[in-house]
Amino acid sequence: MEVLAALGTPEGRADPYPYYARLHEHGEAIRPAPGVVIVVGYDAISAVLRDPAFRAGDETTWDKSFPGWQSEPVLVQAADWMLNTSGPKHARIRSLIARAFTARRVAGLQPAIEKMADALLDRMADRGADGSPVEFMHDFAFLLPVTVICELLGIPEADREGFRPIARDLAGVFEFSDPVALPAINAAAVDLLAYFTGLTAQRRAEPRDDLVSDLLAITDAADGKLTDAELLHNLTLLLVAGFETTTNLLGNGLQVILTQPAIGAAVRDGSVPAPAFVEEALRYDSPVQLTSRVGYEAKVGGVAVADGDDVTTVLGAGNRDPRRFAEPDMFNALRSDGGPLSFGGGAHFCIGAALARLEAGVAFPRLLHRFPRIAPAGEPVRRETFLLRGFDELPISVR
Ligand code: HEM
Repeated sequence: MEVLAALGTPEGRADPYPYYARLHEHGEAIRPAPGVVIVVGYDAISAVLRDPAFRAGDETTWDKSFPGWQSEPVLVQAADWMLNTSGPKHARIRSLIARAFTARRVAGLQPAIEKMADALLDRMADRGADGSPVEFMHDFAFLLPVTVICELLGIPEADREGFRPIARDLAGVFEFSDPVALPAINAAAVDLLAYFTGLTAQRRAEPRDDLVSDLLAITDAADGKLTDAELLHNLTLLLVAGFETTTNLLGNGLQVILTQPAIGAAVRDGSVPAPAFVEEALRYDSPVQLTSRVGYEAKVGGVAVADGDDVTTVLGAGNRDPRRFAEPDMFNALRSDGGPLSFGGGAHFCIGAALARLEAGVAFPRLLHRFPRIAPAGEPVRRETFLLRGFDELPISVR
């Protein structure tokens, strides 16, 4: 209980890893209070995520935990997000969206991602040419993923600038605990829905080579298998899920390079391949620290789970499980025991994993080649969020 309480403090949020290490000493899972199970072991987390009987929390859960949720626009949308559905509804929505979100479409984005990354690096080079600090989170880590996801969906360039604050507000729903935050989250949800309603109307009339047009073609042909509302709601999910998570992968990965320059040098000279660096960055400091499921009568990591329990799988802890990873607290991009849990597992495995890996795999080598003397230029500022782990500010010098 003491360790769990410490995880909620500013120190715990800043660096949860020593606390996770203490939880690992207790075993793979713990039951700190009736109705709550916290899973920290790699194998146990993996087993929960792969077991369809552990459902994602959905509208039936919210009926109990948040009566009246139907009057909150964000929750009406979130009820259709594939993230918050299970069984046949999840399979139906996910399979239709996966038909458009193909490996080919993702791979086809590579030239555009390279161009966007280079344009952002040019701007950073200009800003930092006189030796003044450049803010990596704002100038690169936020802008690259939001531009990429807009490019993927087919959101015109002129409309993109406005998306960052809206997507950020909407991402607040992932950490939602404070009702005070709800009006801003709802406002963002309403704005995005109105935007996608307009965009889908345009693409229906005049299809283009983008994900929204593909999705419309598939859903219209599938004849009611995905309702218009379900499609629109999952477009807002793609925008919000694909943005801040990747931002944090870029920030957390860069912080490793800034604090352990030999690792950056190894990526620059190619002795550590960029994809290996990215996998280890995902493991070492997971951008998504946890997710949860609704329990059923089962045993997890030796702990009994009851029907309806809130089962929290701490992906960030599983990634540092000493039972699974040799020297878990060491960043070793060439480790042979890779396989982070950072994209989840099972039916809800991140649909954007290949895109996130591609973006980071393009970004890091370009950044390191462009700025061989990249170095910290001030104190990093962490975001206060726990589920989404990352920085607000990461000042660097690039000269
Ligand atoms: C480093 C970047 C990313 C990380 C760490 C990440 C992490 C995750 C995790 C852990 C899950 C599973 C949640 C669960 O099981 O409850 C997930 C699901 C999901 N992710 Fe990602 N994600 C990233 C990037 C993206 C991108 C780029 C997109 C879209 C373009 C995306 C879209 C989604 C969607 C739609 C789901 C729900 C899938 C489902 O429920 O079937 N993510 N992601």
